[in-house]
Amino acid sequence: MEERKSKIQICNLSKHFGDLVVLDQLNFDIYDGEFLCVVGPTGCGKTTFCNVLTNLLPPTSGEVSVDGRPINCKTHNISFVFQAPSCLPWRNVWENVKIGLEIKGVPGKEIKERVMDVLEAVGLTPFMNFYPNQISAGMKQRVAIARAFVTEPDMLLMDEPFGQLDTSTRFHIESSLVKLWERKRQTIIFVTHNLEEAVYMSERILVLTPKPTTIKAEVSVDHLAHPRDITDPEFVRLRCQITDLVRWW
Ligand SMILES: Nc1ncnc2c1ncn2[C@@H]1O[C@H](COP(=O)(O)OP(=O)(O)O)[C@@H](O)[C@H]1O
Ligand SMILES: [Mg+2]
Repeated sequence: MEERKSKIQICNLSKHFGDLVVLDQLNFDIYDGEFLCVVGPTGCGKTTFCNVLTNLLPPTSGEVSVDGRPINCKTHNISFVFQAPSCLPWRNVWENVKIGLEIKGVPGKEIKERVMDVLEAVGLTPFMNFYPNQISAGMKQRVAIARAFVTEPDMLLMDEPFGQLDTSTRFHIESSLVKLWERKRQTIIFVTHNLEEAVYMSERILVLTPKPTTIKAEVSVDHLAHPRDITDPEFVRLRCQITDLVRWW
């Protein structure tokens, strides 16, 4: 990890709502191309963290920088995948995925190549002409993931995107996400309260405390090769270690 270039710098980041201290002086860096998971209990401020990180909400103090410059939605390319599926119902899968490239004015031929590539990676090629009401919830989240990746963002934020999916759908989609990340190496910040999901996918896990929220621990899981086996003793050890960190506040 030492030689890796820092992509996103979070410095003394705090967010208060009136007297309620939600985020309390967070400090950490995210490496270029890193797959980082942030885990914490419900209500600890994970969604607030995502919103402050992208400047959807102004921080109370502190700052977020990308490549050493203050984050700016106009100059930096930020993608968001939310918990609730967010497909545009009047556009088919193909048209939903290409939307960010259209907005950026990418030439048509390049749009076609890039959209084909991500659709293939998430297993949606056979469904590219389907409309959102013709596909399952899991497939809609695949559309959202493909749409987020295709723009090759500086930062890809995912806020509990698989929380509403059943276990087997979740495993499939987690595997597709890892494959897509291995291919594209985008910088991902994936927020979840599901510890197994975090150990299954990421390179590093930040464990948050309850409010006022700080970073309780940082656990590296990048020595586990993909695709990971949830019954592997080292996998189980890491999952237990993080469970303990979450249990003993
Ligand atoms: N706009 C807001 N105004 C006041 N309090 C808020 C606001 N948004 C979130 N909170 C509070 O901040 C805390 C963290 O919320 P949230 O970020 O949604 O947590 P999480 O995503 O980890 O479940 C909660 O106590 C919530 O009630
Ligand atoms: Mg939340």
